[in-house]
Amino acid sequence: MNEKQLAGEKAAEFVKNGMTVGLGTGSTVYYTIRRIGEMVKEGLTIKAVSTSSSTTRLAESLRIPLVSIDEAGKLDLTIDGADEVDPAFRGIKGGGGALFFEKIVAAASERSIWVVGSDKLVDRLGRFPLPVEVVPFGYSQVYRRLFDKGLNPKLRMSGENRYITDSGNYIIDLQLGAIGDPEALNDWLNGITGVVEHGLFLGMANAVVVARQDIVEVKER
Ligand code: 5RP
Repeated sequence: MNEKQLAGEKAAEFVKNGMTVGLGTGSTVYYTIRRIGEMVKEGLTIKAVSTSSSTTRLAESLRIPLVSIDEAGKLDLTIDGADEVDPAFRGIKGGGGALFFEKIVAAASERSIWVVGSDKLVDRLGRFPLPVEVVPFGYSQVYRRLFDKGLNPKLRMSGENRYITDSGNYIIDLQLGAIGDPEALNDWLNGITGVVEHGLFLGMANAVVVARQDIVEVKER
């Protein structure tokens, strides 16, 4: 079993009867969702909230009952992947482009668990490009502010076209190398008009399920 599958399936053990569960997006949480699908088939009763069109398709194919974020009220638990996780459980997310809905769902959840292979654990965030979701109107103005700040912005493309998120926005990836002060960058990005959200997830994960080769560990904050 590969690390993604090991971590993903382990996290499904945290899902209990009667819960409202946020379902993240990506190739690791895919295994969680698949396992939850099996558990539903075996009689587990849950309501789930999806974080992307791809996760909605997957959950529907597995007959996992979905409700909208607005119908859900408070979520008990969200399980999601991450692109990088530091020792303080701060993370970069959004490699798959779903960061905006992922952050809304995580913020509405009592607990958030990330599922990762060991390659995602880092001492310092920033080697993975930091995604910034921006509205199309005036995006080049935002791009210029990011450029002027020395943040090495790159507009995300999908082949020849601009990448479009599920909410119809663009993504600008910041090639930072290392982020010295994630909280300061978080505050600065949040202050830019035209920025919808960004992939710094600070203080949001309560636990990280990490697989290293064939060993899986649950790290609690
Ligand atoms: C999508 C995400 C994903 O959770 C993140 O990119 C990790 O994905 P994977 O498990 O495929 O490596 O944030 O927006």
